[in-house]
Amino acid sequence: MQKLKILCVLSVSSVVSCGKSLVDQVPYPENYRSFFHVKSMELKKDHPLYKDFGGLHHVYVNHEGLEALKKGGPFPDGSILVFDLFEVTSDNQITSEKERKVLAVMYKNTKAFAKTGGWGFEAFRGDSRERLVNGNHEACFGCHAQQKAKDYVFSEFRP
Ligand code: HEC
Repeated sequence: MQKLKILCVLSVSSVVSCGKSLVDQVPYPENYRSFFHVKSMELKKDHPLYKDFGGLHHVYVNHEGLEALKKGGPFPDGSILVFDLFEVTSDNQITSEKERKVLAVMYKNTKAFAKTGGWGFEAFRGDSRERLVNGNHEACFGCHAQQKAKDYVFSEFRP
């Protein structure tokens, strides 16, 4: 990390934004499909959040966060929650997943994300690594804040 910081200072781009990308950025959750599957849910056309969250989503938690999820928090640093959202088609009484819309992520780092309950929020477009939140953690936290009693997480463990 120290080495990276030095490279950063030497780079042409602003030191501030560079430091942010190294320290405050939520990492892409590699191999999240092998995390623990928590639940799935479909939001249909007439749901008020359809525009952003419409479709079928699956929620995952990594190994670090699983015990905390069982207890309803608090989550230790390193916990990752993933919200994997897909378009759906319905045909012949079958609902099927289509393309991935967004991969939303919560990543716990108490120091880096102290202003938003210790959670960093990010969303990656479709199957890409394109970042949609890009530091505006409050946009997501505003809604998750209502779950303060469960360390800002909505999903609950079920065996
Ligand atoms: C309008 C309220 C709202 C906003 C805004 C919102 N979320 Fe959520 N989020 C929810 C709800 C409700 C759930 C639970 C879904 C379920 O039960 O399957 C959830 C679930 C999640 C989960 C799974 C963990 C959990 O809390 O259950 C992640 C990860 C997540 N959201 C990330 C984000 C990110 C990243 C953003 C910003 C781009 C965001 N959310 C914005 C309401 C919101």
